[in-house]
Amino acid sequence: MSESMNQPIHDPILSIKNLTVVYKDTLFSLKKSRFSRPAVDGVSLDVPHRGTIGIVGESGCGKSTIAKSILMMTEPCGGEILFNGTGLDSWRRNRLAYYSKVQMIWQDPFSSINPKMRIQEIISRPLHNFFHLSSDEIAQRLHATIRKVGLTEDHLVMYPHELSGGGRQRVTIARALISEPILLIADEPTSALDVSIQAQILNLLKELKQDMALSMVFISHNISVVEFLCDSICVMYMGRIVESAPREVLVKDHRHWYTTLLFESLPNGPRPKERKFKVDLGELAVCEKGCSFAPRCIRAEKLCFESSPDLVEIGPDHFCACHFHA
Ligand SMILES: Nc1ncnc2c1ncn2[C@@H]1O[C@H](COP(=O)(O)OP(=O)(O)O)[C@@H](O)[C@H]1O
Ligand SMILES: [Mg+2]
Repeated sequence: MSESMNQPIHDPILSIKNLTVVYKDTLFSLKKSRFSRPAVDGVSLDVPHRGTIGIVGESGCGKSTIAKSILMMTEPCGGEILFNGTGLDSWRRNRLAYYSKVQMIWQDPFSSINPKMRIQEIISRPLHNFFHLSSDEIAQRLHATIRKVGLTEDHLVMYPHELSGGGRQRVTIARALISEPILLIADEPTSALDVSIQAQILNLLKELKQDMALSMVFISHNISVVEFLCDSICVMYMGRIVESAPREVLVKDHRHWYTTLLFESLPNGPRPKERKFKVDLGELAVCEKGCSFAPRCIRAEKLCFESSPDLVEIGPDHFCACHFHA
């Protein structure tokens, strides 16, 4: 069985192939038609060892569902995910080994930590779960980890409510890193923070991934945040990747009209007169047969409502799903 980490690191460290996730209709689900659409629809992507892949798209496009699938928190109905060359079906039999090497940071630091535990217990808890270490070894790792994330000894005896939002997010980062993972899944880790704190946490993540040789899947609805941190970017719309490329290519030469809309929507984007999307009605109208972005697209033609474009390579490592890419 190959699901131990005593083997060389496989590159790509994470490989997602044709992942499809459909949430079942629930008795109370009012919007039946939307719920029966796949939340994630045929997504494929690779995370190179020590690389950072960004997933960006507006709320509801399926970003967290990908994160939950990687973390074995939801059951895909199609496709497969391989971590270090081994499928999650095998890793499911050895979850402790998996979670010691694949860790996560969530959006809301307050709801992802136990308010009744002191910071030192919160951060060191994974060590008790994953390893048999002496109390000296635990203390050593705890102190080394808090230094890495910019916390001090004084913080260790505090409770979460005594820390700021940024401080609490540092705690969740320390908890994620103490088991020395090789892959970090960060789902909107700065979205719940004040703007000034966001930059500090992003800088911290950038330093940590360098220092600890981390590979990362970084999820955000904000394309400028993803641009700051990631080597490659996947743009998602309604469960599908509509464009993906290395960062510089995506920033300077994006070709999907939805990617254009994301860049134009940034606060420092072009002035209203210079925008291609003069008015974005923001309608999430569903186009059953064609391109899911067609109802909002400024370039949509009859074909776009009739046939769904495939994701095709339009340049080196640059993929786009648009009949009339710019
Ligand atoms: N547990 C669930 N049950 C049913 N539908 C869900 C569930 N979680 C998410 N969804 C739906 O799946 C789609 C994708 O959600 P999600 O992955 O959370 O998107 P994002 O993280 O991009 O905002 C949305 O339409 C959402 O309403
Ligand atoms: Mg989400």
